[in-house]
Amino acid sequence: MSSDKTRRDGPRHVAIIMDGNGRWAQARGGPRLFGHHAGARRVREIVEACPENGVDYLTIFAFSTENWKRTQIEVAGLMSLFRRYILKEMQDFVRQNVRVRFIGDRVKLDKKLSGLMDEAEELTAQCTGTNLTIALNYGGRDEVARATQRLARDVASGRLDPEKVDEETLPRYLDTHVLPDPDLVIRTSGEARISNFLLWQSAYAEYEFIETLWPDFTAAEFHDLVSAYAGRERRYGGVKA
Ligand code: IPE
Ligand code: IPE
Ligand code: MG
Repeated sequence: MSSDKTRRDGPRHVAIIMDGNGRWAQARGGPRLFGHHAGARRVREIVEACPENGVDYLTIFAFSTENWKRTQIEVAGLMSLFRRYILKEMQDFVRQNVRVRFIGDRVKLDKKLSGLMDEAEELTAQCTGTNLTIALNYGGRDEVARATQRLARDVASGRLDPEKVDEETLPRYLDTHVLPDPDLVIRTSGEARISNFLLWQSAYAEYEFIETLWPDFTAAEFHDLVSAYAGRERRYGGVKA
């Protein structure tokens, strides 16, 4: 049965660095925000393609802790886009049985946006289909720093024995504590770097750096990358079986 095979061999968790919106807009003579709007519209098709590709977890990088360095106009436009996007898609996610989660530091976001993020998480908390995680004001180093702060508090209060801290301890404090590690990380737009995305979690992920700009990324290309993953051999430091 081919669908069972896809499920067994394919990546269970795919993470995507959605890059190239600015260049996509520039190529069309439009402002960067034009590209971000086009990029946001691509998300739905990829979320919808997850079940047929055997992908249970999709994590997408929407805004990094470093993206605040952009112009005030671009940052404000992105924040307004995120608010509108969540408001508009929330009910559809429920209808499609998509469970939405956010990772990143919410404290630094405006109250209206973080309120909508909480609302979307609560509204979809009972959904049992695709797990969509949106990384917003997310940075891998920032996440590890925040996790370490919480871990240190537990040590200070006597809830955690420092001698018992091991590889399993820190992930319990990360924003992603309920998610499995990503199996496949895709970055669009031709850049071969990870830009502070899921640093701890991607230690053994497979990477695909593709030329397509995010607003041009399709479900067909997603399917091809997921299929190519199935042919790869992951060794985790061991030797060929
Ligand atoms: C990715 O597209 C979206 C965000 C970082 C918010 P970019 O805006 O980085 O697009 P390029 O890399 O400039 O083309
Ligand atoms: C990474 O893209 C962040 C997101 C896709 C949200 P950037 O465009 O911000 O990364 P750099 O600056 O090229 O490393
Ligand atoms: Mg970029």
